[in-house]
Amino acid sequence: MEVYEAIQKRKSIRKFRSEPVPDETITKILRAGTQAPNAFNKEQWEFILITDRALQNAIAQTRARIPPQRIALETAPLILVVCYENELGVDGMASAYTCIENILLAATAEGLGSVTLTSRGGKIKEMLNIPEGYDVAAIMPIGYPDEEPEKPVRVPVERKIHINRF
Ligand SMILES: Cc1cc2nc3c(=O)[nH]c(=O)nc-3n(C[C@H](O)[C@H](O)[C@H](O)COP(=O)(O)O)c2cc1C
Repeated sequence: MEVYEAIQKRKSIRKFRSEPVPDETITKILRAGTQAPNAFNKEQWEFILITDRALQNAIAQTRARIPPQRIALETAPLILVVCYENELGVDGMASAYTCIENILLAATAEGLGSVTLTSRGGKIKEMLNIPEGYDVAAIMPIGYPDEEPEKPVRVPVERKIHINRF
């Protein structure tokens, strides 16, 4: 898929078919993630793949009061948690998100959908044994879409462009 087509087609998906994602496809989209620009080429990212159903349900339960997120986490055949080494602060987080966008675009090219859910507080870190020095950038349910939401419209780019000063 051509890059502009993937950019245009990508949209947040919050409901998935149960069909599993082949291991080679997961590796392929994660490899695409690791080609992203990152601060000092330190590759601050680390990936946790949640394949254990009980753990998946426990993660989904942390969003019990937010149905779209809970459903996304429950229905996805796979949850990817992207962590980052937080030594460089915002640079580590920024590196994680350049990686995440590559993953989202590669997933789109593979016919997959996802959404980035952020995580505040330490509950997920504790559940997943995430060590000191690392934080969670995003919890990403991934799978073949079971919904076709409208892509939210964006304001015309011309309204976001400033010449010389804001
Ligand atoms: C940093 C970040 C945090 C987000 N957090 C959530 C979230 O908590 N719940 C959710 O449903 N979507 C979340 N999203 C997805 C956005 O809601 C979505 O990208 C936005 O509405 C635009 O829609 P689109 O992705 O379909 O283009 C998040 C996206 C980003 C980049």
